[in-house]
Amino acid sequence: MLLWNGRLVQDNEIQVSYLDRGYYFGDGIYEVFRIYDGHLFEVQAHLTRLFKSLREIRIEIPWNEEQLVGMLTSLAETFGRKDGILYLQITRGVAKRSHLFPEAAEPVMLGYCEEAARPVDQLKKGIAVISLEDERWHKCHIKSLNLLANTLARQEAAEAGAEEAVLIRDGRVTEATSSNVMMVKNGTIYTHPNGPWILDGITKQVVERLAKQSGIPYQNTAFTLEELLEADEVFITSTIKEVMPVTIINGTQVGSGIPGVITQLLQNGFEQKIG
Ligand code: PDD
Repeated sequence: MLLWNGRLVQDNEIQVSYLDRGYYFGDGIYEVFRIYDGHLFEVQAHLTRLFKSLREIRIEIPWNEEQLVGMLTSLAETFGRKDGILYLQITRGVAKRSHLFPEAAEPVMLGYCEEAARPVDQLKKGIAVISLEDERWHKCHIKSLNLLANTLARQEAAEAGAEEAVLIRDGRVTEATSSNVMMVKNGTIYTHPNGPWILDGITKQVVERLAKQSGIPYQNTAFTLEELLEADEVFITSTIKEVMPVTIINGTQVGSGIPGVITQLLQNGFEQKIG
């Protein structure tokens, strides 16, 4: 089943218009939710961010948070499998192509679930990343459908044999193409402060809470690529990658080359939350 403008429908019941502004302008926003054991993880936090993205790009939808929770829960139930993701996007709607907002257009909502296993092997071993210039726009806090700079960088990383690209703006590490970046130095966790240069990741929020509960110092302070390369531990966080150790950056080993102690402690805390 799919979620289509507030209703659960079969795949063949939907018709995406070639005049949808999401299609030709990328004029919309999205969220990726995790389903663990049949349940949506951190659904409230995702919806808070979704409404923030909608406000930022001035799309009004006819559903409130409670109604969305109901629809998404029903969608996840029809999915019926234990582990997966739920993708939800909302575009400004269908209108003749014009850069101006259409006077009358209903937002178009699409949601679907997909099977997705947890990346258990990578979570144990860690991943390799490369660094690239952050070429995105100045509103990275909006979960916009416009992901061209992200996809180009991610593809470049894959072609270099890496799993992700860590992005650098004005000499500082912002985040990665579809995850936040954290480093540990002398027992303190550092990550880029919220604002226009990063997405306020839900997994990042969970990690911040876990760090505070465990008494691990946590600082929203940006760092340079050189500092990242000198870090004791590095990890990225996202709905798909969870708390993912980074063991190689630009071909160079991070710390001792294996997932670090604090990373593992956070991974354990995360497992307990989703279990
Ligand atoms: N991406 N930064 C960016 C640019 C992202 O696209 C994402 C998530 C994150 C991490 O956010 P969260 O912890 O809420 O997943 C950070 C999703 C998973 C995606 O585009 O597939």
